[in-house]
Amino acid sequence: MILGIGTDLANIERIEGTLAKFGDRFRNRVFTETEQRKAARRAEEASTYAKRWAAKEACSKALGTGLAMGIAWKDMAVTNLRTGQPVMTVTGWAEKRLAEMTPPGFEAIIHVTLTDDHPWAQAFVVIEARPIQA
Ligand SMILES: CC(C)(COP(=O)(O)OP(=O)(O)OC[C@H]1O[C@@H](n2cnc3c(N)ncnc32)[C@H](O)[C@@H]1OP(=O)(O)O)[C@@H](O)C(=O)NCCC(=O)NCCS
Repeated sequence: MILGIGTDLANIERIEGTLAKFGDRFRNRVFTETEQRKAARRAEEASTYAKRWAAKEACSKALGTGLAMGIAWKDMAVTNLRTGQPVMTVTGWAEKRLAEMTPPGFEAIIHVTLTDDHPWAQAFVVIEARPIQA
């Protein structure tokens, strides 16, 4: 069963501006070390961050909370499999929220897909609940 869906479009040029203005303060507030390492390795740093920003926004929608003031952005994070496929992991408040919305006897799986085409970065998140096999 589907527990939640979320989508977001992020403007790469706006992220570029925020990076120029706030630099590491922005990087460290919003992105995990893994996300920062990936972005730093790439020529397209801003678009890498914009995709992950969109993923966090989309995930907060799928969790049904949106991005309330003071939430920890780093509690929703993107890693990549060897194939390049993105994986969303949640910790802290987001993990707690996910547990609350998952019915007993089910496990939650977060699906995420990312794309970008300058100046836009886009993310979709679907949260699925699967019965736990005995
Ligand atoms: C997957 C693929 C279609 C992405 O094409 P693209 O034009 O770069 O894609 P977009 O710009 O729309 O999106 C990029 C995002 O696609 C996602 N992506 C990359 N590989 C993916 C995969 N195997 N499965 C699902 N999503 C994938 C990533 O989230 C990536 O963004 P990120 O690297 O910042 O996390 C393309 O790389 C491809 O055909 N790969 C298969 C061949 C290949 O190179 N395989 C190598 C690993 S075996």
